[in-house]
Amino acid sequence: MKVLGIETSCDDTGIAIYDLSKGLLINELYSQKKIHANYGGIIPELASREHTRKIIVLLDKIFKKKNIMKEIDLIAYTAGPGLVGSLLVGATFACSLAFSLNIPVLPVNHMEAHLLSPMLEYKSIEFPFIALLVSGKHTQIIAAYKLGKYEILGNSLDDAAGEAFDKISKMLELKYPNGRELSNLAAKGIKNHFYFPRPMIHHSNLNFSFSGLKTFTSKVIKNSVLNMQQKANIARAFEDAVIDILLIKTKKALSQKGWNRLVIAGGVSANTLLRKRSQDMMKKCFNGKVFYSQLQFCTDNGAMIAYLGLLRCNEARTSSLEILVKPKWSIDSLSQILI
Ligand code: KG4
Ligand code: ZN
Repeated sequence: MKVLGIETSCDDTGIAIYDLSKGLLINELYSQKKIHANYGGIIPELASREHTRKIIVLLDKIFKKKNIMKEIDLIAYTAGPGLVGSLLVGATFACSLAFSLNIPVLPVNHMEAHLLSPMLEYKSIEFPFIALLVSGKHTQIIAAYKLGKYEILGNSLDDAAGEAFDKISKMLELKYPNGRELSNLAAKGIKNHFYFPRPMIHHSNLNFSFSGLKTFTSKVIKNSVLNMQQKANIARAFEDAVIDILLIKTKKALSQKGWNRLVIAGGVSANTLLRKRSQDMMKKCFNGKVFYSQLQFCTDNGAMIAYLGLLRCNEARTSSLEILVKPKWSIDSLSQILI
C-alpha cells in the first residue's frame, strides 16, 4: 500500500510517498523561508499563494522521479491545526487529486504527525510515553497512552517555545528562519555570562509561559552594547533558560506517570542542546530513552503526513466532495487508531 502525504499547514510545502513494505519512497519539500525572510516572519496570505504556485511543481517532480501515480492507494493531507489559507490549498489539492484518481482521501492532524514522526525511524516505540511537542505554535506535554489516545498534561499559556526563539532572534537581528540561527549563535556564547529567569518552574502544574522570559531578554538586549560576542552570550542565556524550562516540566511529567520513554517532536526538537540534554536526563534520571526524528523530519514535512495516513488508513473516505480543514484541532480530540 502506498500513501501520498501532503503538508501545507504553514510555510513549507511538503509531499511524500510512504509504502507499507518499503517505507519512505520519496520526500520533497519546498520551503518558503527566503520569501518570508524579507518580512521577518510568516505572512499568511503570501504563504497560501506560494503553496498554490509550488504544489503542482512538487507533485510533477515526484512523479518524474518515480512514475507511480497509478500505484497510489490513498492521499493523506494536513487538515489542521495551521493557517486556514495554507491548509485550504493542500486540502483542495488533495481532495481533487483523490477524486480524479478515484482513491480515498484522509484529513490528518499535523501535531499527531509530529508526535509520531520519530516512528519513521524507530518503528516500534513502545506505549505509553511522554511526548514534548515543541513547534512554532505549540508547546505541549502529552501523555501518549496508545496510538491516537493522547492527554494534554501541559500547555503554553502564551508564546510557544519556537515562537519565543523566533522573536528573540529577530530582536538580535539574526537571519530568518530564526530558531536554528539563534541556536548556532548560542553555541558561541559564554555559559552563565547572563542568567535569565525560568518562569513557572516551581508551579505544580505542567504549563509553560515564555512571555516573561521574552520581555526580560528584550530588556537585556536594549541595555547591552551588541557586539557579536554579547549577542552570543544573550542567545546562550536564552537557550539555556528555554531548555531548562522544557526539561524541568518534562521531568515532572515523567515522574508523575512513572514512565521512562520520552518523544520530543516539532521544529524545536531539531535543537542540538535540547537533544543532548534530554538524552542525558533520560539516562541519568530515568534509566530510559528519548526518541526524536532525523533533522529533516523535525520541522514540517510530507513524510510524517504520509506515514500517519498509513496508520489511519481505515478512516479514509472515498468519493466525498467535502474539503475539510480544521485550523484549530486539538490532539486530545482524536480517536484511537485501531490497527
Ligand atoms: O514544526 P515546525 O516546522 O512548524 C510548526 O508546526 O510550527 O516548527 C518551526 C519552529 C520555528 O519556530 C523554528 O524557529 C523552530 O521550530 N526551530 C528551532 C530549531 N529549528 C527550528 N528552534 C530551536 N532550535 C532549532 N535548531
Ligand atoms: Zn509543524
